[in-house]
Amino acid sequence: MIRANDNYSKLKASYLFSDIAKRVNEYQANNPGTHIIRLGIGDVTQALVPAVIKGFHEGVDEMAKDATFRGYGPDQGYLFLREKIAENDFKSRGADISPDEIFVSDGAKCDTGNFQELFATDIKVAIPDPVYPVYLDTNVMAGRTGEFEDNRYRGIVYMDCLKENNFLPKLPKEKVDLIYLCFPNNPTGSTATKEELKLWVDYAKENKALILFDAAYESYIRDEDLPKTIYEIEGAREVAVEFRSFSKTAGFTGTRCGFTVVPKDCMIYSAKGEKVSLHSMWNRRHTTKFNGVSYPVQKATEAVYSQEGKSQIKEQIAYYLNNADVICKTVESLGFDYVGGKNSPYIWVDGNGRDSWEFFDLLLTKASVVCTPGGGFGRCGKHYIRISAFNSFENVTLAMERVKEALK
Ligand code: MLT
Repeated sequence: MIRANDNYSKLKASYLFSDIAKRVNEYQANNPGTHIIRLGIGDVTQALVPAVIKGFHEGVDEMAKDATFRGYGPDQGYLFLREKIAENDFKSRGADISPDEIFVSDGAKCDTGNFQELFATDIKVAIPDPVYPVYLDTNVMAGRTGEFEDNRYRGIVYMDCLKENNFLPKLPKEKVDLIYLCFPNNPTGSTATKEELKLWVDYAKENKALILFDAAYESYIRDEDLPKTIYEIEGAREVAVEFRSFSKTAGFTGTRCGFTVVPKDCMIYSAKGEKVSLHSMWNRRHTTKFNGVSYPVQKATEAVYSQEGKSQIKEQIAYYLNNADVICKTVESLGFDYVGGKNSPYIWVDGNGRDSWEFFDLLLTKASVVCTPGGGFGRCGKHYIRISAFNSFENVTLAMERVKEALK
């Protein structure tokens, strides 16, 4: 008898953003002609910048001639791209990461979801609440949790991120083995200083734990003092893996490219307590299950690091951050507390006691504006909504006018 992985039955019926899309599509079907403005899922709306398009075209043209055609590329990514990443994203910030510690992939969602495969099922996992659902759901699928009760999976160590702690997780009281961190944070938009990250690196070293650090939104950091990579923190090479994405950096949500950094100093432990190289394990997994990102996409990604690419992308990010400013000002004028929006494209709004799904429904039905209900990110988000700055300036401005009207 073919048996199902029963862990899947512990999951909520559908993935958060699929659930939201279903509700929005129903609303659209019942209200044809209504102009819905989507500030829910963080999906970019601006076209790829000219430098990236040029790189993309060059890649495609090379594929059109036998002399320059490429078949399978290196599973870990072409060296031309990994060298640019190491130089621009790490060495330039004093972070000692070499090209062969970088694994190019089709995005951070897959990598953050897949990475947990390398660990035993009986480890203790610490996850912030609220959280990007992928970290939690993939651990549920792998059987690292008990049942879902009172909005939480048994067996997970939840780290509450609340107003009282500036939406920063506190070091867990009990000993944990795997820690998920994300800064700038999705969904709250909060950030962590070097000193704050150092506490986590020290904890991981002391407890032989590992940090999975999601830095998908680092390009939105405006504050010069904030770290852009965990490897700016001394000792992080031994205890942290970092995930990056070009989705929000360079508008690649539909193009797909990201990467994961696994330093060679990172060790985990066998059942007998012997050291195991995490880099070797991820390399084994990656080469077995992944065949590399397409050549034209890697050429397009390489162009992100060209002089023109850098300045065009900087402008694009400034555009979305300007939208975020508009959202922050509106939310503030309406008397809501919020966090994020300064070094992040997300604004986390305290609904003053309103249930997040009710708030979501209210904005959808009264303003035709889509946000993300905080409850979908965890119990601590129950009274919050997340508003994303990814849309055109015109749509964001219009959405904010409609929200003001709806909440008058
Ligand atoms: C989000 O809205 O949280 C993200 O766009 C989802 C993702 O990156 O997968």
